[in-house]
Amino acid sequence: MDSSLTLVIFGITSNLAQIKLIPALYDISEKNLLPNTTHIIGVARAPQDESWIKNYFHQTLHLENKHHQHPISEDVLSKLNDKLNYMNGQLNDLNFFQELKQKITELGSTNTIFYLATYPDLYKDIFDNLKKVGLNEQTNGFTRVMIEKPIGEDLPSAQRLNKLLAEYFTEDQIYRLDHYLGKETLQNILTFRFGNGTFEPLINKDHIDHIQITASENFGIGKRGGYYDKVGALKDVGQNHQLQMLAFALMDPPSEFSNTAITKERTKILKNLQPIPEKVVFGQYEGYQQEENVEKDSKTDTFYALKTFINIERLKDVPIYIRAGKNLKETVTEISIIFKTPTNRLFQHIDCGKDPNVLIYRIQPNEGIVLKILTKKPGHTIDLDDSYMQFCYRSSNELPDAYEKLISDAIRGDQTFFNDAEEVEAQWKFIDPLVKTKTIPIVYSSKSWGPKEADDLIKEDSREWLEPSMMFCNI
Ligand SMILES: NC(=O)c1ccc[n+]([C@@H]2O[C@H](COP(=O)([O-])OP(=O)(O)OC[C@H]3O[C@@H](n4cnc5c(N)ncnc54)[C@H](OP(=O)(O)O)[C@@H]3O)[C@@H](O)[C@H]2O)c1
Repeated sequence: MDSSLTLVIFGITSNLAQIKLIPALYDISEKNLLPNTTHIIGVARAPQDESWIKNYFHQTLHLENKHHQHPISEDVLSKLNDKLNYMNGQLNDLNFFQELKQKITELGSTNTIFYLATYPDLYKDIFDNLKKVGLNEQTNGFTRVMIEKPIGEDLPSAQRLNKLLAEYFTEDQIYRLDHYLGKETLQNILTFRFGNGTFEPLINKDHIDHIQITASENFGIGKRGGYYDKVGALKDVGQNHQLQMLAFALMDPPSEFSNTAITKERTKILKNLQPIPEKVVFGQYEGYQQEENVEKDSKTDTFYALKTFINIERLKDVPIYIRAGKNLKETVTEISIIFKTPTNRLFQHIDCGKDPNVLIYRIQPNEGIVLKILTKKPGHTIDLDDSYMQFCYRSSNELPDAYEKLISDAIRGDQTFFNDAEEVEAQWKFIDPLVKTKTIPIVYSSKSWGPKEADDLIKEDSREWLEPSMMFCNI
């Protein structure tokens, strides 16, 4: 099959393109992961001259983009430049799609990916217009569409969007992207669990006391008020990233390393999650209502903490506590599996040995996998100390960015780390009942761990939130 590619990015001037897609395209080019003949067509509304897009990529990579962490090679950039094209047009205008079809035909590649880096209200017009000019069809090569989370804003709207997508594309053409699935540190959980024999036999109700998932940021919403105030923390990161973290950490072993087998196991976890509306605490940081583009009486959650269970026999009655929020004490994303304390209390006479072992998957920062254990302090007395056995990445620069991985997966046609329709809908089925019973968020102080009620949620089970350690993998 012809391996040439045309990648069309609707919304090349978007924030997403600037902070993620353009750096990812550079990195993919640097690693020679683009097909030899690749054309990139960026689309936005303003008319521009021919050289504009090359300058725009150059500026985005050099000046504006703080997300691109390593030096830019002018040689790589020049090769990428040769692939760049720009077209201006309105995405609700059929004439523009006729021009787009003509351009794609002229460029001559038979495989096409359409990346939707634009507003969800435009999706229907885009699909309609692609269909009217026949660009949604797969004739000689492939036609794929990449679409960002959030897929819908609740279950009915997600179902409508999935139905809409199905009118124009088959499921194998649709790449629903939640960039957490492309994170190296999350994917490594699969290797750690199923490539090694040591820990997996412990991931069950006999050995686990409970599980905690934290995704905290020590900064506020910045300039994203217009978007964030309509969505809130639970929908912004809870419905997608955090549930995916949970699925990776707890899924049953997939029968093989394939898209179907891995997606099936992730979905099984998500479908069996038990929503408990009375066990959710919503918070809002002090001063949030004064942020730019936020309603003055906004009731949007910038924090939530919840408790849930997974209704599968292996994890029956193992409580899972999830929290996320902005303007909290630390920026940290991690999954902690807290094991039961040993029944043989050899060290109880020294009031020690009560602290459980904790397996921590640190997604960011100080990325790694860590086991918290007790060790003897060197010396003549029996004193115990918390220690960390750790696997750490040498530096976060060695980790490929999630978008880099996911765009190259889509080029290769690998949907393993993308969501299918059923999976997205399972996520909303869990979240919707929690949103429906949402109470007015409790105001919390900046740089705290959220409202006191979030501590009470876990304390009433005689447990407490773990203070994320910044000590390990601090390389
Ligand atoms: N930004 C993020 O960090 C982020 C993170 C995760 C997911 N997402 C998702 O990514 C998508 C893009 O979000 P964003 O915040 O990056 O968007 P954005 O900055 O608001 O950009 C919107 C883009 O769409 C183009 N556009 C708007 N109306 C158009 C029209 N009628 N015809 C042609 N082009 C049009 C704009 O181009 P011009 O105005 O220049 O014409 C611009 O390039 C959304 O689905 C969002 O949910 C974004």
